[in-house]
Amino acid sequence: KKISLTGIKPTGTPHLGNYLGAIRPALELAKDYDTVYFIADYHALTTVHDGKEMAENIHKVAATWLACGLDPEKGLFYKQSDIPEIFELSWALSCFTPKGFMNRAHAYKAKVEANRANGEDLDTNVNMGLYCYPCLMDADILMFNADVVPVGKDQKQHVEFARDVAIRFNKQMGKDVFVVPEPLIQETTDVIPGLDGRKMSKSYDNTIELFLDEKARKKKVNKIVTNSLPLEAAKDPDTCNVFNLFKLFATPEETAALAETYRAGGMGWGYAKGELQRVLERTFGEAREKYNDLMAHPDRIDEILHAGAEKARPIAREHMDKVREVLGYGKSF
Ligand code: TYM
Repeated sequence: KKISLTGIKPTGTPHLGNYLGAIRPALELAKDYDTVYFIADYHALTTVHDGKEMAENIHKVAATWLACGLDPEKGLFYKQSDIPEIFELSWALSCFTPKGFMNRAHAYKAKVEANRANGEDLDTNVNMGLYCYPCLMDADILMFNADVVPVGKDQKQHVEFARDVAIRFNKQMGKDVFVVPEPLIQETTDVIPGLDGRKMSKSYDNTIELFLDEKARKKKVNKIVTNSLPLEAAKDPDTCNVFNLFKLFATPEETAALAETYRAGGMGWGYAKGELQRVLERTFGEAREKYNDLMAHPDRIDEILHAGAEKARPIAREHMDKVREVLGYGKSF
């Protein structure tokens, strides 16, 4: 069986972009692939410097995976920081990575641009973790021989870095130590728009979190930006953020029916938003109970993560030993 691998960074509360871009496709792949799904907690350290907040964020991401249907008995499920071999591999891979690649990494470039816009020194607020971020992600992916990496479009460049370094390493060392991974990006969910129409992202503060209660979610949905056409006007579903989110959770019949209502005129935005609210509650209502229950028992989450790391570590150790041998260090002891 081929291997599907993906990770989520615990920098806040998971949102619809994470779900549609990564979690839902990843869980669907569990039918045909061996799966490796994890919490990229050391990646979050580039921005989260508060231990309590980090611990809570880790629990939120873990509880989200589990509430959405991840079965910890099948495949691997762990937090990155519990697998020290990943950091060993990251160093080795960084020595096969041209510095120029890191200069071109989107996340690093965006930070430099933000500093420029704020009139700050360009390297202020850029820590080495952010700069080396892609090398750690390479290690995440290559450690477990991933064939495919289901992600949103914003992560495509990172997976391409991992491909590149795998090819480069195999060639230079004369041995196929690493599987060359492929990004798996679904066209319909590659960039999920947020409340303001830009990419849904914690850093834009335009997210809809997965497990809001109905009242809180309604408030968010009401904030989705729409045009200001009057009630009686015919409306175009395809350019509407509300409709574009709705169709990702609705049946084909429901999608056709709402599109028809848009085009007929006489529909107010309140109706469309109510329809979105309805399909979101249908999708997440039951899972929310599971999520809240897990969040009330963080020790249970920790147990699951520890058991997952126990399963993953020997696999990582064995692969890391292969890498060490090829590089001339010999097996670890
Ligand atoms: P992160 O935590 O920012 O996002 C997790 C996943 O959600 C996807 N995503 C989106 N997809 C569509 N539309 C959106 N608006 C949207 N927002 C987020 C992301 O593309 C991602 O798939 N560096 C990664 C975490 C990571 C990782 C890995 C992923 C670390 N190591 C190895 C895959 C393989 C990140 O920060 O994702």
